[in-house]
Amino acid sequence: MNDVERKVELDSIRTQVLSCTLCGLSKTRDNAVPGEGNYSAEIIFIGEGPGANEDEKGIPFCGASGKFLDEMLASIKLDRDKVFITNTVKCRPPGNRDPEEDEKVACRPYLERQIELIAPKVIVCLGRHAAASLLPGQPGISAIHGKALKRPNGIVYLPLYHPAAALHNGSLRATLINDFAKIPTILKKISETVKTTKIINETKQERLI
Ligand code: URA
Ligand code: SF4
Repeated sequence: MNDVERKVELDSIRTQVLSCTLCGLSKTRDNAVPGEGNYSAEIIFIGEGPGANEDEKGIPFCGASGKFLDEMLASIKLDRDKVFITNTVKCRPPGNRDPEEDEKVACRPYLERQIELIAPKVIVCLGRHAAASLLPGQPGISAIHGKALKRPNGIVYLPLYHPAAALHNGSLRATLINDFAKIPTILKKISETVKTTKIINETKQERLI
C-alpha cells in the first residue's frame, strides 16, 4: 500500500469514528477523538480514553497530561508531527470512569486497523488500560513498565505509566521520565537488528548466485 492509499484508509477510519455509535459512549460524548499525528510514524502512543479537554476539542492528549507528554516527547527530540497518538477507546467515558469491557471491545477494530495501516516499529502503551488491552496475559503495569517486549507481529511494545497518574506523584513521575528516555535506544536497537538481518539476507543471496 502506498502513502496515498494509506492516507485514504486512515482518513476514512477518522470519519467513521467521528460518527460512530457502536457503543454507549456515543450517547455521552461531545466529540469522538480518533487520534492524530504522522501516518508513517515509527511510534504510536496509546492512552486510555479521552478526558474532558479531549472530548471538548476532539484532539488526543490536549490537557494537562498531554502537556506532560509533549514535554517528554521534546526531551527525546520528538514531537506530535513525528508520532501518532490515540486511545483504547475513542470517546470519553463519563466522569472519567474506566472504560468498560464492552466499550473497549466495540472500539478495538479502529485501533487495530490504525496499527495495521501505520505499521509502527514501537507501540507505547500509556497506562494500565492500554497495557492490558495490547499485552494480554502480562502482569500489571507496576511489574512491566519500562520493559520493551517484541510480540510475534514484529512490533516492540513498551508499557509506561500513564502521564495523568504520574503528573502529581513524584516517584511515578521520575520513573515515567526514566522509562520514556529508553525510547531512542529501543528504536536504535530495532534498526540495528533490521540491518543485521539485511546483511544476512544479502549474504545468502550472494551465495545463491
Ligand atoms: N488521557 C488519556 O488516556 N487519553 C487522552 O487522550 C487524554 C488523557
Ligand atoms: Fe464508537 Fe469507540 Fe466511540 Fe464507542 S468509544 S462510540 S466504539 S468510537
